[in-house]
Amino acid sequence: MTAANAGMHSGRSDIVTREVSLQRLLTAYILAGLLFMLLPGTFLGVWNLLSISSTHTVASLSPAWLQAHGHAQIFGWIGTFILGIGFYSLSKMGNLPPFAVSRGWASFAIWTGGVLLRWTVNITAWQWRVALPASAVLELAAFLIFFRTVSRHRPQPATGNTTRSRQPWMLVVVGSTVGFLASLIANLGVAAYVVVIGKGPAVPVALDQRLLMLPTWGFLVPAVWGFNARWLPRFLGLKTPDGRRLYAALFVAWASVGAMLSGAAILSTALLPVAALLAILALHVFEPSVQPAKVNGVHSTFPLFVRGAYAWLMIAAALSVAAALADREGGIWGASRHALTVGFLSTMVFAIGQRILPAFCGARVLFSKNLMFASLALLNLGCALRVGSEIPAYEGYFRQAWSVLPISAVVELTAVTLFAINLVLTFLRPPAHLMHGLNTP
Ligand code: HEM
Repeated sequence: MTAANAGMHSGRSDIVTREVSLQRLLTAYILAGLLFMLLPGTFLGVWNLLSISSTHTVASLSPAWLQAHGHAQIFGWIGTFILGIGFYSLSKMGNLPPFAVSRGWASFAIWTGGVLLRWTVNITAWQWRVALPASAVLELAAFLIFFRTVSRHRPQPATGNTTRSRQPWMLVVVGSTVGFLASLIANLGVAAYVVVIGKGPAVPVALDQRLLMLPTWGFLVPAVWGFNARWLPRFLGLKTPDGRRLYAALFVAWASVGAMLSGAAILSTALLPVAALLAILALHVFEPSVQPAKVNGVHSTFPLFVRGAYAWLMIAAALSVAAALADREGGIWGASRHALTVGFLSTMVFAIGQRILPAFCGARVLFSKNLMFASLALLNLGCALRVGSEIPAYEGYFRQAWSVLPISAVVELTAVTLFAINLVLTFLRPPAHLMHGLNTP
């Protein structure tokens, strides 16, 4: 072997080793996210809903438990997915330094430790005056490691093009990362405030409800818009996104968050349908595809569920307006929140996650297209039952609706379990190139 050949060979094996270590890192983030989703997140959510349904009032339940569920879902599940995908895709796209992988593991350990501590404190009140702010510090520290590592990322210029063009999707994803940072800083500030004024680990309910706008419309929704702007033209064959409308959607969503934080709830919620509509127009979600959708490896209904998620986004925005005007018992706020978190965010994570994660986590093929369909169909059914019955039950318009809520909880629990099983079985499969002759069920 010549020296030049040996050099090329070792360069290629370095790339392969790095790719494998990045895939392992991402798989760890996804598995941890799934665990948070299943037990601290959904199982506790179901438990909470069953308790509320048996007493017919949300006031019967400890706010600390409600907040433990919300935090586990938003930060433990979706936040962990986003950090893992961020490390993986930015390392691949922009030649992050080799230490990105070890930083990724450090961030993983600190992040999951912080989120788990927060959940434990909320559930048990164990040493809460110390542990609550400590969990917020850990979460912020883990995020800062991520932020510092990926902020070194520079997009590689396309072949033959020496300019480094920032595309709209990138700026919106960067914007959502700023929303993530703002959410964690606010979380730390509130934890410190609770230590001073609180009698337990729960954030005062009114403050908590306002602050929820930050991680939802300030971070997660823009993150989905940004990643959708990148992937939907390929996956659904949609037209190239309209950058200006996408930026406008981001700014209107942030303006809404700002208005909510300053106490202007009606103005804030009135902006949400505008933001959602701008994003839908920017991404051409409901316009005919200009190319065939790429559904190989996933269920053929994949485009339908992605579009359906945007219908949930509009429903969530409209219900928020109704909640600001007419909510008395938390039913309209609850319905709008779950139209957003389950209908929009979770449907999107189920659909896009089962499309991209098998390939990202070791060049695999999804275990089962049918399980994918079942998870998405049940999630949407559970969400429709929940959103449809929460308002009449909580607000006292139709008491029989209380009996539908436990059913919705069990249907949603089944959906998330199927999603987790499908991904775990996918990760247990050999990579696609070693699977010759095997079919997906
Ligand atoms: C089986 C599925 C789920 C069930 C049964 C459930 C149940 C609940 C219940 C009972 C509440 C209390 C407020 C209310 O009555 O509306 C709540 C709040 C909340 N849920 Fe869920 N949920 C589920 C899924 C999710 C998912 C997937 C997310 C996010 C991705 C989420 C995020 C939240 C948030 C942020 C709150 C507010 C927490 C707070 O007050 O700080 N939930 N959920």
